[in-house]
This record gives sequence, structure tokens and C-alpha cells, in this order.
Amino acid sequence: MHTTGVSSPTRVWWKPVHKAEKVWATLAFVWCLILFAMMPFWHFKGGQNPAGIRSKVDPTAYRERVEQFIADYQVGTDGGIPVVAPPAGSDIYLLGQMWMWRPVMQLQAGAEYTLHLSSLDLNHGFNLYPFNVNFQVVPGYDYALRITPSEAGDFRIICNEFCGVGHHLMLGKIIVVDGPDGTTASAAPATGGDR
Ligand code: CUA
Repeated sequence: MHTTGVSSPTRVWWKPVHKAEKVWATLAFVWCLILFAMMPFWHFKGGQNPAGIRSKVDPTAYRERVEQFIADYQVGTDGGIPVVAPPAGSDIYLLGQMWMWRPVMQLQAGAEYTLHLSSLDLNHGFNLYPFNVNFQVVPGYDYALRITPSEAGDFRIICNEFCGVGHHLMLGKIIVVDGPDGTTASAAPATGGDR
């Protein structure tokens, strides 16, 4: 019998399942359960949980807070973006907007900061290169993380949430220095390049 659109195909699908198929279906199901159990396991054992400090904030008010933060601690500019060197232990404020991160942070290795993230316009993604750090940056919400930079260097903030034609240009920078005097081998605080 040949099958067309109007005559039904031969019914084979209700025949008893082959043993090999049962074994594979069981293996897949057990693996699903293992992966499911890994989620709470890593939550408690993985040491990867964010601080979870969050509050609602008006985007304009957040921008004003960032500008105040810049006014308080600016030490230079880098490609037209203010560079700030906040004191160890302080709250630091990063603003995502189409298509830049403001300001450039100059932080001290080994010091703890509370990093606030928010957006002025739409969703952006905070991805700290080359580390596996990944957070949503959402307008209307101030999301804060306790961070302690562990090594000196020059790190890039990459937007990983598609946010329009300038998405691929949305690069920010965090400079980590060894001491409060701002010395590091890899990145002197930028003071030139004012526009
Ligand atoms: Cu901001 Cu993509």
C-alpha cells in the first residue's frame, strides 16, 4: 500500500517499544534528573551566588547618582569617558546606556567594593572579560554585587544583550591597580585624550 495525503500510513507506532529504546529513554531521563539536581547543588556548593542586593530606582535618578559619583572621584578621562578612582570599600556606580558604559573604574586589587549596575534606556548585559561574570543590566532596577578584584590589569566590560545598532561597540573598562597610588604595570590611569 502506498501512502498519500488522503490514506493513513501504516500504524506501527503503538507496537511494544524495543528494549534498546527503553534503555536509552531511561538513561536520558536519569540524566535529566542529575542535571536538575545539579542546580540546587551548585547554588549551595558552587560559591557563585551573587549578593542579591537590589532595589527599584528611577533611571534618571540613577544617572544623577552616577554623575555625582563621577564628580566625587574623577581622576582623568579615557577616550572621552571619565575615569574614577573610588576609595576601597565604597559603593561604586556603573551606568549602561546606548552604547556605552559610564564611567571607567579604577579599582584597587584586594579591596572590596559594592558595584551597582543599572541602565538608562533598555536591557544591557554586563559581561566582564576575560572572566565568567555575567549580569543583566535592567532600567528601573539597581542591582548591586560585592566584588573584590583579585589581580591588577585592564579588563573589558562587554555588552552581551543585543541593544541595537551600536551593541557591538558597547565596551567599557575596569582598571585594577595594585595600590591606592594607582600604580600598575599594565595600565596607567589615563589622563590624556580629553575631548
Ligand atoms: Cu548594550 Cu548590547
